Amino acid sequence: MDVDRASVEQALARAGCISPVEEADALFDAAGNDPTALVSMLERRIRGEPLPWITGSIRFCGLKVRVAPGVYVPRWQTEPLARLAASFLPPDGVAVDLCTGAGAVAMVLASAAPDAQVFATDVDPVAVACARTNDVDALEGVLDEPLPEAIEGVVDVLTAVPPYVPSGELRFLPRDVQDHEPTAALDGGVDGTDVLAEIVRRSPRWLRPGGSIVLELGGDQAVALGSGLREAGFDEPEILSDAEGDARGLRARRAGRGQPA
Ligand SMILES: C[S@@+](CC[C@H](N)C(=O)[O-])C[C@H]1O[C@@H](n2cnc3c(N)ncnc32)[C@H](O)[C@@H]1O
Repeated sequence: MDVDRASVEQALARAGCISPVEEADALFDAAGNDPTALVSMLERRIRGEPLPWITGSIRFCGLKVRVAPGVYVPRWQTEPLARLAASFLPPDGVAVDLCTGAGAVAMVLASAAPDAQVFATDVDPVAVACARTNDVDALEGVLDEPLPEAIEGVVDVLTAVPPYVPSGELRFLPRDVQDHEPTAALDGGVDGTDVLAEIVRRSPRWLRPGGSIVLELGGDQAVALGSGLREAGFDEPEILSDAEGDARGLRARRAGRGQPA
């Protein structure tokens, strides 16, 4: 295979990459001056492997996030949610990022408030190991189960980008996502809210009164979560929309006395 610049860009374009010039930049950077490494990386990309698994990292909110093969790739669409969550974290506060994956959201929280305590969890040991390479205090286990009891009732903000794709819609995801990214990171059950609803149910134990839950979701899942949020003692949620006006997340405040977040 030719590995001059033009040939690499053409090969990427033929493989369906929508940004072949930028992807070629990333591959040349990652391969250094090693043409064998470049060919191997190019072949992996042509087979549809996510670019950050090949180059080893992605930028998220301006931060370099290491992403190991097998770990969900943080999406730029999550960046506004991460920034919003960080705005609710006081300088010496406490934050939790459930379903942390590579730890991108936790990194944004820690970078916004370097003196805060930021805990993260993920059920996937590969993700936990990856998040730790990003200096995230990642704990392995189901949702909140690995969190220390010491932070019960004192968390200022609890975030999660859980699996929320309805099972029946997984087949509509881009081919490379279906072929490579872990189904357990994506599949949210029949209507996509299985994990979301469980997070809502468990989070009051950790949040202080006035603390915020910030969740990524899609479609009309915020409506489906409404009664669960009320039962869990949250105020009316704020729906977070993207530039097209589609719901991408929600923020809700745990009712009760306490500093508004
Ligand atoms: C959509 S990915 C999001 C990762 C990361 N927050 C991000 O935005 O890049 C969902 C993550 O949730 C994890 N996960 C799925 N079910 C879980 C559960 N029950 N408890 C903890 N983590 C879970 C997966 O391993 C995956 O890393």
